[in-house]
Amino acid sequence: MRTYFLRSFGCQMNDHDAERIRALLEDDGLKRVESVDDADVLVYNTCTVRRSADDRLAGHLGEAARVKALDPRRLVVVAGCLPQVEREALFERFPFVDVALGPQHLRELPAALAAGRQRGYFDGEGALSGELPAHRERPFQAWVQIIAGCTNACAYCIVPTARGPERSRAPEAVLAEVLALVADGVLEVTLLGQNVNAFGNDLRGPGRPTFAGLLGSLDAIEGLRRVRFTTSHPRDLSDELVEAIASLPTVCEHIHLPAQSGSDRILAAMGRGYTRDWYLGRVQALRAAVPDIAVTTDLMVGFPGETDDDFDDTLRLVEAAGFDAAFTFVYSARPGTVAATMPEPVAAKVALERVGRLVAATQAQSLRRRSATVGSTVEVLVEGESRHGGQTRGRNRQNVTVNFAGAAKPGELVPVQVTGATSTTLRGRAATP
Ligand code: SAH
Ligand code: SF4
Ligand code: F3S
Repeated sequence: MRTYFLRSFGCQMNDHDAERIRALLEDDGLKRVESVDDADVLVYNTCTVRRSADDRLAGHLGEAARVKALDPRRLVVVAGCLPQVEREALFERFPFVDVALGPQHLRELPAALAAGRQRGYFDGEGALSGELPAHRERPFQAWVQIIAGCTNACAYCIVPTARGPERSRAPEAVLAEVLALVADGVLEVTLLGQNVNAFGNDLRGPGRPTFAGLLGSLDAIEGLRRVRFTTSHPRDLSDELVEAIASLPTVCEHIHLPAQSGSDRILAAMGRGYTRDWYLGRVQALRAAVPDIAVTTDLMVGFPGETDDDFDDTLRLVEAAGFDAAFTFVYSARPGTVAATMPEPVAAKVALERVGRLVAATQAQSLRRRSATVGSTVEVLVEGESRHGGQTRGRNRQNVTVNFAGAAKPGELVPVQVTGATSTTLRGRAATP
């Protein structure tokens, strides 16, 4: 039996694509192996959002080059966002790569493998990969892609180049997929898109669907317990959506709302389409409607032209917003983006110093927000055993990992009393319902 090795990088969209790659290869009769030395086909599902992602990939491809030299019949496939951006240049950088294909062309994978070592970039029909089968990691949780690509043009971002413009799936197709998943035992779905709030904007015809409307129809599905979604663009966070999160029982009390910066000057230069006041106003509206909502974010330092004052504005935004968690990034110039040609780059040393301060501020805040839940009882969807011996691990509705004393099986929803907190996790004990 032919075997494959798969390594995937990047965001949840890419993780979900990795599930599709697994399904496509396994339907094709290949078996997954954990070591490159045992694999006939090596697949790298790449991310190129920051320079560090490219560097890490180059390191991993070293192993592919090594085993390919031992047996040239092996096939090396580079999938994901990098090949879509680099196209033929990829083969010059990594001559041992046989097949490259971008996220819009996953469907071509079996044909590409059959074609074997005809090196080249595959771009067939460009079918919406939302319609492809996926190999789920856990029987009770599933990702569901509702919108592909991104039509925004944030000055720093390579994603629109890698994934093309926004294309929403038909609401009926999403509904049918979720119905089938629930019939198959799924309790929790996470709806995916670079900007889920833009769902429906590109669909024509009367009665254009909205994301809030989609949440409403999913909420009505018997047996579905939790609906999550990511990512929300602050500019497109409508009152209708706030109301949907507040009123629909299945929709979890968590929103990932990337702010990027707290400086109006930098937000404008980034082309984000909102101001700091707008952002804080949206957070206020969410908290007023959904008091226990967790707000998480992405923040970037070192965008071209960022001054000490701009950075202080970001620190002040953090203080005012009260984030439950934040991913913090140092700006990295991506060739081909608008920001890559902007003057006034921020020195690496300055950016590193800023990100250090930002991490300290956001972690202290996360700890405060987590600690405030100590003493309460939360609903946990069990995912498995905890790394802390003998304990059980799962996530609450706010998407926080909870380690607790008490036996429960993966897929069970159990009430847990929270007894302690760190900046990233909660601990507790199973409560009697
Ligand atoms: N669609 C999401 C973000 C996708 S990329 C959104 O609009 O919020 C995930 C995060 O990576 C971004 O939120 C941003 O903070 C970061 N990022 C994107 N491009 C970057 C770059 N060139 N340098 C550093 N961080 C970047
Ligand atoms: Fe990138 Fe902006 Fe689109 Fe997010 S919204 S994927 S940051 S261009
Ligand atoms: Fe990376 Fe592509 Fe996601 S560049 S962040 S894997 S959309």
